[in-house]
Parts: sequence; C-alpha cells; structure tokens
Amino acid sequence: MSARFAAPKGMNDILPAESHRWQGLERLLRGLSHAYGYREIRTPIPEATALFTRGLGEATDVVEKEMFSWEDQGGDRLTLRPEGTAPTVRAYVEHRLDAQEPVSKLYYIGPMFRRERPQRGRYRQFHQWGAELIGAEEPAADAEVIALLVTALRQLRAEGVRVLLNSIGDDACRPAYREELQRFLRGRLDRLCEASRARVETNPMRVLDCKVPGCIEATADAPRMIDRLCEPCAAHFAELRRLLDLLGVEVAIDPRLVRGFDYYTRTAFEVQMAYEGAQNAVAGGGRYDRLVEELGGAPTPALGFAVGLERLLALVPADLFAAPAAAVFVAAVGARARDLALPLVDRLRRQGVAAEFALAGRGQSGAPSLKSQLRRADRSGAPRAVILDDRDIERGVAILRDLAMSRQEEVPLADLEPRLAALLAPRA
Ligand code: HAM
Repeated sequence: MSARFAAPKGMNDILPAESHRWQGLERLLRGLSHAYGYREIRTPIPEATALFTRGLGEATDVVEKEMFSWEDQGGDRLTLRPEGTAPTVRAYVEHRLDAQEPVSKLYYIGPMFRRERPQRGRYRQFHQWGAELIGAEEPAADAEVIALLVTALRQLRAEGVRVLLNSIGDDACRPAYREELQRFLRGRLDRLCEASRARVETNPMRVLDCKVPGCIEATADAPRMIDRLCEPCAAHFAELRRLLDLLGVEVAIDPRLVRGFDYYTRTAFEVQMAYEGAQNAVAGGGRYDRLVEELGGAPTPALGFAVGLERLLALVPADLFAAPAAAVFVAAVGARARDLALPLVDRLRRQGVAAEFALAGRGQSGAPSLKSQLRRADRSGAPRAVILDDRDIERGVAILRDLAMSRQEEVPLADLEPRLAALLAPRA
C-alpha cells in the first residue's frame, strides 16, 4: 500500500513558481551585504541547546516554549536554531575571528525554526537574512547597520514599512529602571492579562510589548526607559539619531519598543508594516554589547538585525524578479528530426543558452504532435522556436519562428546554428 505525506506543520515547500523570487531576493541581499562590507558566515542548523538558553535568556518566549530540541543518541542536547545571532557569536568566539580583524561584519541567509502556532506570516521553519557587526561601539556602527537594512527595503520597493527605534539602556541604567517598572506594574496587576502578570517578576519590560488592549492601556503611563538612560547611553542614542538624520534615514522613536531576547542593550529597532496586525514585524535588531562575553569571548560590543524573508517577500512587488524563460524552443517531427534536435539543444545548453526540447509528457507514448509541441513552446515563454521536420530536412532546411511576432522563415540547415548563435548571443 502506498502512503501520502504532507510537509511538517508550519513548514513550507518553495515551488518553482516562487523559487525565482527567492533567488532574486537572495541575490540582491547578498550583493548589498557585500557592498556594505559583510561576508557570509554559514553555521550549522542545530546547535547545543545551552547556547540558546544562555544566549537568548531563560525567560523568553522562544526558550520557554518555541525551541525544537532533542537529545541525540549520544546524550547531546541539541536545538534547531531559532535565530542566527547566538550561533554567529558562538562561531566568532570559537574561531577567534577577533584576532583576524578589529571589526567583523558577517551576514547569513538561511532557515530558522520556532515551534510557534502557525498562521499567515508565522511559520515553524522560516528564513532570515541577518547581518552582525561585531567589535564596534560607536554610534556610527549602529547607523551603518540600520542604513543597510533600510537600503535593502528601498531597493526591494517594500512599501508601507516604518523603522521604530528605541534605546533600552545598559547594565548601568537598566536595573534601576527595571525595578521602577516592576513597582509600577505590581500596582496594576489586576489590569494585566495572565501572561503579562506572570512576566512582571521574570521579564517586566516584555509587558510593554504585550498586544492585549487592556495591557496597552494599563501601561500607557508606565515609566519609560528612554527617560531613564544613563549619560553614556543617552549620548550614544542622541548621536545615533544625528547620524541617521545625516544619512537621510527616517525613523520613528518608540519608547515602548522592547525586543524578545535578553541579549539586547542600548539600541533596539524594528521594521514594522504600517498597518496594525499580529505579525507585523518584518525585521528586528539591536545592540548586544554583552553577548560575546556571555558566550566566552572577550568583552566586545556588537549589533545586528535579521529580516524575515517570507514577510519581506510578501511586501516586494510581484514582478520585481522575472521568472526564468527559455531562449529557444526546439520542436521536432519525425525520427531524423528528433535525432538532429537533441544534439542541437545540448550544444546550445552547453553554451548556457536555455534551450527547450519537448519530451513526451506523462501518459503520452511516442513523440508529441507538432501542435502540442508548439503549444508548449508558447507556454515556455521562449521568444523563438526552431521547427525541425523530416520533410524539411529532406530539402536541407529548418524553420525559424519568431513566436512573439508570429513570423517564420526557412533557414538552410547549415546556417541554423550560426543564425541562432547571432540571435541568442546577447541574451546568453
Ligand atoms: P527576531 O525579531 O526574533 O530577531 O526575528 C527577526 C525577524 O524574523 C522578525 O522580524 C520576523 O520577520 C522573522 N520571524 C521571526 N519569527 C518568525 C516566524 N515564526 N515566522 C516567520 N518569520 C519570523 C532575531 O531573530 C534576532 N536574531 C535579530 C538580531 C540579529 N538581533 C541582533 N542581530
């Protein structure tokens, strides 16, 4: 008996009708990453579970309930990476990249895994483009990272998005703020949702991120980190704002913006779709000045971002990346014609010309009729077709047809390939 399978819940196939858009997107993002001085890093899909519990924080949604984790046959605890920052920093420390250059600029494109409840725009396997700048403390680094993200959005013509910016302080100013916020929230427990109530003691800043209307109302007048920054954090934030202005990057300051992982310090930002919705974050990032040390390296300031590619692609105009089309379709009728056609197609293909040849499809026996081959030629998007027919071959000619103009001419067989080469050269 046969069995049928479906892709795992919340995980998607990317089919040929879409894959060219992914390729176009990735090509553009790679080119831009290189232009901004980033080089690619590829890390394993699974990592030690402890890397994430330690790196992201025990009291975060991802670590508490969204990791795909297992113990392998050798007793190692592994997790499918839910994000790319902790793995990148792990590799940076492990391979002593700091010894090679004062500032490391690394990017990645690849799948991430979170065991969330799937819905539109939220998947269990999704893809991120991420950039991490490790080793620089000055606000110019923050400005440069945000500029890369904004340039990508512009070049992709992603419309209706805005960049929200905040500073969430550092070890000098955040602990006192955290206590102040906690005191404030304890006085309003009855107005908070259950999840927020639980967070007051473990992760009070995340309460500000709760989307439940009652929580938003109850915290409308909560103390704001941005008003409690220590002098160095405030100066860093002010300088970053000045530099973004200088770069012509528009941001909206959002004092309620907090991020979902514990590693963040100072700068935090998100790209959101302008309309309100549950899954409206296209990208997120910020500084994580303590993470390198937390993961065993020397104290090293750093920051970065990651973009969700499924969400980004939904904002990119459908026609920004053209589907690949055949350059020439070779139709053949008769045994001799087919024996001429196959090597001809192969010679063209070896030169990089996308040449198509009609194999008999499923359920057909023998060669397809000329009519069905020409139908396929039209559907292939090829601008021209070669028609080889035993009777024409007898006379030493082939037919070259311009499919767009519906015009055709006879070409001596000996001239066919030079003619095709001349026609196709600029495209190839
Ligand atoms: P994040 O905000 O958790 O940050 O994720 C970044 C982006 O990944 C989100 O804005 C969203 O577009 C996409 N994303 C996250 N979860 C899902 C999901 N379940 N389905 C579809 N898309 C999703 C990070 O991951 C940090 N590592 C970013 C960073 C880099 N911070 C510093 N460097």
